Amino acid sequence: MILSNRIHKVLLCVIAWRLSSVFLVQTSDVPDEYWQSVEVAHRLAFGYGHLTWEWREGIRSYIYPFLISLIYRILGFFHLDFATLIIIAPRIMQALLSAYADYRFYVWTKNKWALFSLCTNWFWYYYASRTLVNTLETSLTTIALSIFPWRDSNTKSVSYIWIVAWLCVVRPTAAVIWTPLCLYHLLTTPTSGRIVLLLSYLRIGMTTLSIATLVDTIGYGKFVLSPIEFLRINFIYRVSDFYGTEPFFWYLTIGIPVILGLYYVIFLIGAWQVVQHPAKFHRQAVMLVVIGWTLAIYSMIPHKEIRFILPLLPFFVCLGTSGILCIKNSVAPFTRKVLMNVLVLTNLLPGLYFSLIHLRGSLDAMKILRQEIASVPNDDVNILFLTPCHATPFYSHLHANVTARFLTCEPSLSNRDDYIDEASEFFANPNLWLRQTYSNTKDTEMPTHLVLFHELAPSIHQFLDKYRLIADLFYAHITPTNYSQYLLIYKRK
Ligand SMILES: *[C@@H]1O[C@H](CO)[C@@H](O)[C@H](O)[C@H]1NC(C)=O
Ligand SMILES: *[C@@H]1O[C@H](CO)[C@@H](O)[C@H](O)[C@H]1NC(C)=O
Repeated sequence: MILSNRIHKVLLCVIAWRLSSVFLVQTSDVPDEYWQSVEVAHRLAFGYGHLTWEWREGIRSYIYPFLISLIYRILGFFHLDFATLIIIAPRIMQALLSAYADYRFYVWTKNKWALFSLCTNWFWYYYASRTLVNTLETSLTTIALSIFPWRDSNTKSVSYIWIVAWLCVVRPTAAVIWTPLCLYHLLTTPTSGRIVLLLSYLRIGMTTLSIATLVDTIGYGKFVLSPIEFLRINFIYRVSDFYGTEPFFWYLTIGIPVILGLYYVIFLIGAWQVVQHPAKFHRQAVMLVVIGWTLAIYSMIPHKEIRFILPLLPFFVCLGTSGILCIKNSVAPFTRKVLMNVLVLTNLLPGLYFSLIHLRGSLDAMKILRQEIASVPNDDVNILFLTPCHATPFYSHLHANVTARFLTCEPSLSNRDDYIDEASEFFANPNLWLRQTYSNTKDTEMPTHLVLFHELAPSIHQFLDKYRLIADLFYAHITPTNYSQYLLIYKRK
């Protein structure tokens, strides 16, 4: 009774903690958070929303946008589809799922240090309420891990396979993490049960794939096997390289340090212990193999992003917990306290900076645009985003069917050497692009609002003559080329 009371308290606490991030995290991170989820869901529910090339080629699963679109439909049904609710509701859904994952993690590890490490991790706090498929993947991976049938556990249930199967249809790369674990499950099953287990894999896999394909077929309006398309496009055309490539050791030297910070050291201490006593730390040893295998595979893929290895977080934390226990037993209480405070502080500072300051301009800009739209009929609004592609969200954050255009940056699927995308063409010569695009346009069809970075303004000052500045928003301290510290919004005079 006392234990179950405590567990309920933990559940309420993690829900409150993850919900707080919906309101505290006021910055954007990567375009996919909007363009691959809520934008698509908005189109499903309200009939307008931009589909990027991934959705025209059929390489993404409609499952996640479909779930979000159900929330939108419910809001729409009750006439509660205010823009603010449309923006916040999917994030609340994701935050609740992340909180449930934290809770399952605690129930499974039964270790307060493990929960403490997961909840103080700044990167997970920063990501847990984002509508990114990586966030979904991390929470589902954690939940599946908590019901995984380890050799030394009482669980013999195969229900984790359902979660893994859904993960793999939504995000095919999740198969990398789960292949060693499924093999482990198969090998630790008595020989007599293996055929039955293989049949379960097959049955659950087929059921999931059928339902997912049905959802995709409805979403795309034609028969599509999105996981297969995803692999085909990525491996044959290597389009992901179009979005940048990184050296082999990038995850070890940049990726993990960003996610774990100082905890990286604790993880290494834990990992060292596990290597020395693999039999004593059976589960941790298996998890270490999973981490090594996943990092090796992901490191071989030239296009790397930190969020791709976020699903490894529960594994890192499990190993780190062994490290914490080791430190606890070997240092004086005072040193321990200092270490704990340093650990919390090194998460708090980046957490606050990235949640409140870095890259906040794009969401603030959408707020201003919503106010502008609210003041005139929709037909009179025509927004032109002269930023690098996808620098801001789109219809999902306007929730108004106004005319809007942004500079696209689609990869060439025909592998043409002379291919140049619209955004690059624009930035190579902004005035030329504006002249070509708007020379034969009637005055009434010119954009009413322009969104652009500060740096661009001087070079197109002639075009801006007909506009006045209505907002000058802080964007970020450090920005890539063609972005700058301030984001400007102009309105036609
Ligand atoms: C949105 O606006 C466009 C252009 O005015 C129009 O063609 C389209 O039907 C509208 N869609 C919805 C769902 O209102
Ligand atoms: C940034 O601008 C330069 C020209 O100033 C252009 O050559 C380059 O392609 C642009 N980069 C992107 C990502 O748009």
